[in-house]
Amino acid sequence: MTSPQALYEGKAKIIYATPDSQILRAYYKDDATAFNAQKRGSITGKGEVNCTMSSYLFQKLEVAGIPTHWLGQPSPREMLVRAVKIIPLEVVVRNIAAGSLCLQTGIPVGTPLEEPLVDFYYKDDALGDPLLTPARIQLLRAATPEQLEGLTQLSLSVNHYLSQFFRECGITLVDFKLEYGVDDQGQLLLADEISPDTCRLWDANESDPERRVMDKDRFRKDLGQVEEAYQRVLEQVLAHC
Ligand code: TMP
Ligand code: ASP
Repeated sequence: MTSPQALYEGKAKIIYATPDSQILRAYYKDDATAFNAQKRGSITGKGEVNCTMSSYLFQKLEVAGIPTHWLGQPSPREMLVRAVKIIPLEVVVRNIAAGSLCLQTGIPVGTPLEEPLVDFYYKDDALGDPLLTPARIQLLRAATPEQLEGLTQLSLSVNHYLSQFFRECGITLVDFKLEYGVDDQGQLLLADEISPDTCRLWDANESDPERRVMDKDRFRKDLGQVEEAYQRVLEQVLAHC
């Protein structure tokens, strides 16, 4: 039997067609990149952790009223998803200052934000995924004003749900990145993944700024024990019922 042709290979996933044109299969790799792929490596077991955790959270979010692309998880590294037209925006929601927000504003790391901050980035590796303004989003026709409002409201709802969920798991949701697609009917569906690759997750019971990190920042900043942190996040998430 010949292996199916990949439709697209990204930094962390390979997307395959299925016999049903409305359904795609995402294969989650262990490959890890940071700083627009200038840093490359591998995190053993990451594919399984990210696929399983995303599957679990997409199902929870569906029940909470957030439409997602998730259809099933036929194996630990494979996710079946609805074929959607991906909106070329990365939506970042921030609850606590960290990462690029601190670098670009001087706000100290760890400062709680009075209100969640929603930032939009252009999904374009060649440009380095730049931060956009609403006016630039219109200029690029990356999303309509109605879609932008929908993305903002959905992302705030996801943040509301996930912040409480992770709190109950003993984890602080610092910030995270979401991607969305549009289905045949023009409905926005939450897409991509929700994992330690795409969230900043801090151990709520640890105050040490390095030891508390349970996400991809361990890889980005060479903090060590990356695999262990990913496995711990998955265990704590799955232990939540
Ligand atoms: P940032 O502080 O570097 O802008 O990252 C904000 C959040 O977005 C953080 O949780 C990590 C996530 N993220 C991605 O998922 N992919 C990316 O390419 C980048 C830069 C950040
Ligand atoms: N998307 C980033 C990259 O290009 C990874 C990251 O910092 O999360 O490699």
